[in-house]
Amino acid sequence: MSAAATELTEDERARPGAQDDLLVIQDVKKHFPIKRGVVIRRQVGAVKAVDGVSFAVGPGETLGLVGESGCGKSTIGRTVTKLIEPTSGSIRFDGREISGLNRGRMRELRRDIQMIFQDPYSSLNPRHTIGTIVGAPFRIQGVKTDKGIKSEVQSLMERVGLNPEHYNRYPHEFSGGQRQRIGIARAIALRPRLIVCDEPVSALDVSIQAQVVNLLEDLQSEYNLAYIFVAHDLSVVRHISDRVAVMYLGKIMELTDRDTLYKAPMHPYTHALMSAVPVPDPAKEARRARILLVGDLPSPIDPPSGCVFHTRCPKYREVLDDSERARCRDEVPVFEAKQPGHFVHCHFPEVRRDLAVAEDEGITGASDRPSPDGNRPPDSTAAGDQRSRSEVEDASPPDRGPAPGDTPLFTNPARPNDFEGPLR
Ligand SMILES: Nc1ncnc2c1ncn2[C@@H]1O[C@H](COP(=O)(O)OP(=O)(O)OP(=O)(O)O)[C@@H](O)[C@H]1O
Ligand code: SF4
Ligand SMILES: [Mg+2]
Repeated sequence: MSAAATELTEDERARPGAQDDLLVIQDVKKHFPIKRGVVIRRQVGAVKAVDGVSFAVGPGETLGLVGESGCGKSTIGRTVTKLIEPTSGSIRFDGREISGLNRGRMRELRRDIQMIFQDPYSSLNPRHTIGTIVGAPFRIQGVKTDKGIKSEVQSLMERVGLNPEHYNRYPHEFSGGQRQRIGIARAIALRPRLIVCDEPVSALDVSIQAQVVNLLEDLQSEYNLAYIFVAHDLSVVRHISDRVAVMYLGKIMELTDRDTLYKAPMHPYTHALMSAVPVPDPAKEARRARILLVGDLPSPIDPPSGCVFHTRCPKYREVLDDSERARCRDEVPVFEAKQPGHFVHCHFPEVRRDLAVAEDEGITGASDRPSPDGNRPPDSTAAGDQRSRSEVEDASPPDRGPAPGDTPLFTNPARPNDFEGPLR
């Protein structure tokens, strides 16, 4: 079925969010300059890490962000939290333009927008105690608390499942899951309204992932938090997100509510992702088409012309005629709604219900992603996290190499291992 965008109004086609959205980003680009020369440094190119991204997030909403390694997910997160400035585009938070804000104004904004990082090891200062780390936002922002900072920090520790008596301990005394809880306690300290969660569970064992995801969900309903949730694991993203954006090479290919994305994806890239999700029923698995992406991910320094996905698009290769292919090569698709609330960046989108992934399918262990140095990120153990209220002394995590069969969904077409995680 071909999608017709013509019945939608101009505003419905162009605006990926509602009027009362908390965060609205429009056509944001982040190009990192590449400079050469010893005496005179000249810009000779740019890494187009984020290249014209638009989306919105409402209060209390979770927007999932998925895509291959290097497609720009973290750069979006860092741009939204103003750790880096966008090259161009607009970022509006609570109706106010925040790109280009000076340091003073940024300090106020830090109360409202926080970030949780992937690696609970490197994101905590090893020389500071938990009390200092979680209490830092109060000190930096000069926020006075009724009960005093120590007591406030201890309540936060308790809220995230840590023993408040461990206030004076150091990060190395905690397991991976516990460290991520420390990062979460720090992030919620000032009651922000938006948290960018950059792969918050990817470095954790699968059993711990579920606990951390459940904690994030509880905190969301308690404080009406909005999340931008970056992840590689499609099942985790589906579980936690209200809407999902699929990224490829610095652009959003498709953005819609999670059920529509998993049941009726429109973009050829999403089709390929959905077809790679394993289905437990062997009969159904045998009937499902498997769409393979061939070729390497192009460089963001010199992305392909027209549609950036055309060099790997199965539809371009196998279905389109010559004139349609020429359009894919020459003309950049407009990111617009083809159906209400369903945004696609493609000249020839097509609803594929045959690739639908049911709610209980596709629970994967794709988060077992090796770190860039080839080692698997050090994990906590399930037992270690269960012990979060007690024996942290025993929680020194084992340093393991990549497990045989680790097959991240986005970087390897081989199917990931099945995993049944106790997500609520
Ligand atoms: N400071 C920087 N200078 C130059 N290039 C950068 C910088 N930060 C990121 N990049 C590049 O921008 C692109 C996007 O990086 P980013 O970290 O946002 O990807 P990602 O989707 O988060 O990947 P991953 O899933 O591996 O975390 C990559 O090609 C990366 O090498
Ligand atoms: S625009 Fe063309 S190349 Fe790009 S995703 Fe659509 S069909 Fe494929
Ligand atoms: Mg990243």
